Amino acid sequence: MSRVAYVNGRYLPHAEARVHVEDRGYQFADGVYEVCEVREGHLVDERRHIERLARSLKELRIDAPMTPAALGVVMRETMRRNRVRDGLVYLQVTRGVARRDHGFPPPGTKPSVVVTARSTDRRKADRLAETGIMVVTVAENRWPRVDIKSVALLPNVLARQEALDRGAKEAWFVDADGLVTEGASANAWIVTQDGAIVTRSANSGILKGITRTVTLEVTKSPAKRVEERAFSVAEAIAAREAFQTSATLTVMPVVEIDGKKIGDGRPGPVARALRARFHETAEIAS
Ligand code: PDD
Repeated sequence: MSRVAYVNGRYLPHAEARVHVEDRGYQFADGVYEVCEVREGHLVDERRHIERLARSLKELRIDAPMTPAALGVVMRETMRRNRVRDGLVYLQVTRGVARRDHGFPPPGTKPSVVVTARSTDRRKADRLAETGIMVVTVAENRWPRVDIKSVALLPNVLARQEALDRGAKEAWFVDADGLVTEGASANAWIVTQDGAIVTRSANSGILKGITRTVTLEVTKSPAKRVEERAFSVAEAIAAREAFQTSATLTVMPVVEIDGKKIGDGRPGPVARALRARFHETAEIAS
């Protein structure tokens, strides 16, 4: 089936969808993005993703390219044209096209907007969650503004590739104090031996994941003990459970870190329950 991408006001065949060579996203990674889950034909947590996009744009002083409602229309039309029932929508906004110069382009330069959508295999993700994934740790080497969902992902790309090279699925960054920040494209969590659910506070060192926010909501009923604080690699390895959250794989159990089994080396009951209940709490748009 032919795929279609939205590029600056037009729906184009995927193979022909391009931005200009002097797009600032291409030349400076001067842009931001969102990845939103599509489930049974509906966008999951659209409002939160669009709000975070607006925040990222504001932090980088990039003009909002269109209203949230208009973005919603484009996302849905892109889903429709690609016949996505279960999958992902990718949305990217850059500072636009201008002669290469590090300073901002002249006022009035239009931001570039790209939206793509693709189907994913939900059963495959569920099967992966049945076994859980392996994670390796890598030294944190990103800029401090990881709270902005910028397309500048080179450290994340290298970390992920290192994970793949070492036979794992994801890399977790570890800061100079030996504390886990987050994954290359997911937030990191553990369940301690005494049953506390722990994830790093969104105040420093991480992207405030939408899946993280919703998962915290899921832990409220029935109320679980949750601690928003940093944890070390040693604490994670000694934990009863570990898992990670992202729009791409929702709640995904982690069964091994740096070759060491977490708990009995199988997905734990807390991660499984949070995964099973996630979509009851997420906002499912019409
Ligand atoms: N990444 N931390 C990082 C560094 C991420 O890139 C992501 C998501 C998350 C989780 O955020 P959310 O729950 O809102 O998806 C945390 C997307 C999925 C990606 O880059 O593909």
